[in-house]
Amino acid sequence: MDVLLQIRDELLDFAGTGVSVMEISHRSQPFMDFAHRTDAAVRRVLAVPTDYHVLLLQGGSYLQFSQIPMNLLHQANTADYIHTGLWSEQAANAAKKYGNVEIVASSYETGFDRIPEINESNINRDAAYLHYTENETAQGLQFSKPPVSPIPLVCDACSSLMSKPIDVSAHDLIYASAQKNMGIAGVTLLLYELIDSSDGFYINNVLPDYRSINNVPFHIAETDLDIYLLKSEKNGFHGLKGHQSTGGLRASIYNAVTLDAVQALGEFMREFKRTHG
Ligand SMILES: Cc1ncc(COP(=O)(O)O)c(C=O)c1O
Repeated sequence: MDVLLQIRDELLDFAGTGVSVMEISHRSQPFMDFAHRTDAAVRRVLAVPTDYHVLLLQGGSYLQFSQIPMNLLHQANTADYIHTGLWSEQAANAAKKYGNVEIVASSYETGFDRIPEINESNINRDAAYLHYTENETAQGLQFSKPPVSPIPLVCDACSSLMSKPIDVSAHDLIYASAQKNMGIAGVTLLLYELIDSSDGFYINNVLPDYRSINNVPFHIAETDLDIYLLKSEKNGFHGLKGHQSTGGLRASIYNAVTLDAVQALGEFMREFKRTHG
């Protein structure tokens, strides 16, 4: 709330300029100071080594699905991708417009219930880079550590950056659009336990070792999903609809979601199971 109030105030008067940050010159001192502070904050929070650049770009991660191969694929005609769900697939598909794409590991066969084993000998030494999606937002599947790569490692950290430490130096390029975690703090991992101890009422198929700390997809074994969703919206829980590619439900517990909110959803789900189970 404090952050929202600060944004509201600064929309009318940014750093004593009398106007908003959107209305001042990008060369003005207040904007330059703001840009430097942002750069320093990103470096501090993510412990970014000095030999890395921090770029603030327009567009979302989807744009990077093309910009990365456009910038890097000219060095080699092939890029390697690890296939773990919807977003890594979209990234690989976008890159196909610019060169050859090799899928070097995939958990498609097991329904994206795990991070696949990555055999280093499958990685093409001549490829421009190896791309992976740190957290598969739709599937709720997450890497516990970066893959070991003999070639430049590129990471889509769109739904996980700033939710936990990341070893920047293990990567050559990390990208993430800001809208998910780079906001207000407060996150927890409570829902999985509730799902697992629900005697099959709530189902999540991702193996425990690979579960995302940011996205908890689940579905209800027998209950009519629509009733659940309607009821949850009436009770103040919004945005629980699963990604359109997977269906079901999904609780996204990004940094802006408070512990109280997660606990309230947990209570609601327990009560819902009691009355509908
Ligand atoms: C892992 C991942 N990559 C890429 C994207 C696309 O990001 P954007 O909507 O900012 O283009 C998303 C969006 O949800 C995502 O979760």
